[in-house]
Formats: sequence, C-alpha cells, structure tokens
Amino acid sequence: MSNIDLQALIPNNVHLGENRQLQRALEHWQPAFLNWWDEMGPSDFKAKEVYLRTAVGVDASGWASYGYTPMPDYRWGIFLADKEEGRKIGFGDHMGEDVWQEVPGEYRSTFRRLIVTQGDTEPASVEQQRLLGHTAPSLYDLRNLFQVNVEEGRHLWAMVYLLHAYFGRDGREEAEELLMRHSGDADKPRILGTFNEPMDNWLSFFMFTYFTDRDGKFQLKSFAESAFDPLARTTRFMLTEEAHHMFVGETGVGRVIKRTLEVMKELDTDDVATLRKAGVVDLPT
Ligand SMILES: [Fe+2]
Ligand SMILES: [Fe+2]
Repeated sequence: MSNIDLQALIPNNVHLGENRQLQRALEHWQPAFLNWWDEMGPSDFKAKEVYLRTAVGVDASGWASYGYTPMPDYRWGIFLADKEEGRKIGFGDHMGEDVWQEVPGEYRSTFRRLIVTQGDTEPASVEQQRLLGHTAPSLYDLRNLFQVNVEEGRHLWAMVYLLHAYFGRDGREEAEELLMRHSGDADKPRILGTFNEPMDNWLSFFMFTYFTDRDGKFQLKSFAESAFDPLARTTRFMLTEEAHHMFVGETGVGRVIKRTLEVMKELDTDDVATLRKAGVVDLPT
C-alpha cells in the first residue's frame, strides 16, 4: 500500500519531489489547469461547500480509500496503482517480455496519440456538464455531478503526468493544447465528436455516465493491460473512480424509468403526451 502525499503542492504517489525538473514543469502547468477549472468547470458553485471523496491511498489491486473535502479545496493529484514486480507483456509481438518503463522509440507517436486522445475527453466532459449544477434534481445528484467533474479533472492530470514525464517537449506542448481545445468550440473543438455535443439536461448526463463512461471503462481496461507500464498503472487507478461514474449513470437512468412506470400505472396510460404532461420522461424518449 503506497500512501499519497496530500501535503505536496501536487498530491502524488510517484515521488514527484525526487524529480525536480518534472515537478517544476507540472507546477508550471498547474495554474493553467486551475484557471481552466475556474473558467470551464462547474459554474457558480465555488463558494459552496460540497463534500467530495478524494484518494488518500492506493494499492496494487487498485482499491482507493477516500476522505472528504469541500470542492474549492479539492486537490487534484497524480496517483498510480502500485507497481507489480516482474510484470510481463501479455500479448502481441512482444508477448512475454518485460513491460516497458519508458516508451520505445518506434511506438512513441502511437502512445502519444492514444494518451492525448484519452486526455482530451476528460476536460471535455467537464466542459459539457458545466451548467448542469443549476438544474440538479436534488442535492444528492448535485454532489454526484461534482464528484464526477473533479475526477474527470483528475484524469486529465493523469494523462498530463504521462505526457510530461515520458514525452519531453512534445508532451509539454500537448499538455498545453489539452487546455486550449474546448467542447463545441468552432475553431478548436475537442478531438472526439461526441465530446462536442451540448449537454443541457440531466437525462443526457445520466445517459452519458451510463453509456459513454462504460465505453470509457473498456478503453481504460485495455490501457490497463498496456505494455507501457506507467500507462497501465495510471489507468488501473482511474478505473476505481470510473466505477462511481457508471453507478451515477445506472442509478440515474434507473430512477427516471422507475418514476415513468409509476406514473404510467397511476394514470393507467402509455400515451406519450399525457405522460409528458404529468412531468415524467416517456419511454420512447
Ligand atoms: Fe475519466
Ligand atoms: Fe468518467
């Protein structure tokens, strides 16, 4: 079990303090990130106390334990699952060889593209969900939304750490670009189409956390098997957070459907217009 240094400027369990150059580069990127969070993160909730879970430790099987922190004090950090000694590559041309601690030259641009594309989706979803706090159906939903948002912000940190630590100057430039592209921006949109669609209602949010986060989970699951060990360890930890996002989606969609069925029964109808008038989401929708 490796403990997380929560006192550091950037909380981490990667011994950031021992690599001054990397630490400085990331500390340089941090204000740009916080700026982005202010401008593009959940709007108008800065002053409110929302209690959130935050990682305080992580072990090899990927379990995280959490403490509580009000949102303005949330500390985004760099958390990797513990190293598995003697881990081997599980498939492909290099099957059976030791996993890589550095990116081999011939795969560098492929890895960079994968990491940048993954990293781009994380802040994109925060941008998409920026205004949802204003129409939250309940305080419970509001908390879940913010929990998902801060964790997607942390996933951006996870990818930026890899870019900074393993891809030199190219990586640092890509990390800056991740804060320049914005969801739905005409000039600099996010890389994947679905992350440029507007998300202005909670049904979309529940559908997003049900389906898109599930898609994301399988993407992360394949990264977790990567021959590039730091990527595998990073994503193994992210998966512990992703589980909660899917829970939000599943229970959200479930509650919407349950209410619809209750009203259908009460009014003894499946007429779309009648149900909509009664304030529930009809099933064909
Ligand atoms: Fe994520
Ligand atoms: Fe997620």
